[in-house]
Amino acid sequence: MTDRYAVAGNPIAHSKSPFIHAQFARQTSQDVQYERLLAPLDGFRAAVENFRAAGGRGLNVTLPFKLEAFELAQERSDRAADAQAVNTLKFDGSTLYGDNTDGVGLLRDIEHNLGFAIQGRSVLLMGAGGAAQGVVGPLLSARPERLVIANRTVEKAQRLAQQFAGRGPLSGGGYAAIAGQQFDLVINATAASLSDSVPDLPEGVFTRDALAYDMMYGKGLAFVEFANSQGAARVADGIGMLVEQAAESFFIWRGVRPQTTPVIAALRAQ
Ligand code: ATR
Repeated sequence: MTDRYAVAGNPIAHSKSPFIHAQFARQTSQDVQYERLLAPLDGFRAAVENFRAAGGRGLNVTLPFKLEAFELAQERSDRAADAQAVNTLKFDGSTLYGDNTDGVGLLRDIEHNLGFAIQGRSVLLMGAGGAAQGVVGPLLSARPERLVIANRTVEKAQRLAQQFAGRGPLSGGGYAAIAGQQFDLVINATAASLSDSVPDLPEGVFTRDALAYDMMYGKGLAFVEFANSQGAARVADGIGMLVEQAAESFFIWRGVRPQTTPVIAALRAQ
């Protein structure tokens, strides 16, 4: 029998996950069906339970339900605990298992796909919301020389840095505080691109061979344009991260690792 999976969110019509997982299933000859699940804003738990009762085997979870999914999960991975958010649910017998694959997805895209080794490099993470929280642990595990979290609301950056105190060379503060400093890797985990704006970065934060990475994707990202104009050597959007986090979810459910390169290429061609 075909195993059913879905991505739950609200809105969900735009999600590329069904396309990605259909490619993975074809590639690996897994008998999998992957759907979109529009959950009511006040009905996430019921939507999960209904999907499970209808034979669902697992779910990806996207905005705005990652925190609810975390609370719903009966067992959680360490990386879900770090992220305080769950993007992958697996119905495992009677247990609801929650994991978070966003951070490892970012790391694989940067280190493997883009060939940028983080170890020993200086890293700036912009933003202190859920998207940023999901990647701090994995970034620290890659052993940067230092990781600075900068956010418009300074206290949120300080709080996020506090949460990971003792796990690596980490600090948090505002954008003005990084004036005069340079970074090899600058990651945009803010929602600024949604309003076509760029965080209030001081001039000259990019080293000569810097990689600028926007976790969002699509054409005309304001941060990508800003980084180009500021002399970053390379820029990337979050398409690779999107596919890599999906591949890790697929692995959690199916125990098989799909190839991501052709799927990233197919998405870029769309
Ligand atoms: P997400 O879960 O996507 O991270 P969020 O929790 O609402 O969403 O967080 C959005 C992040 O984008 C925050 O870090 C926010 O900064 P504040 O904490 O100061 O609100 C940041 N952000 C949104 N718009 C921004 C803008 N125009 N400039 C700078 N930062 C912005």
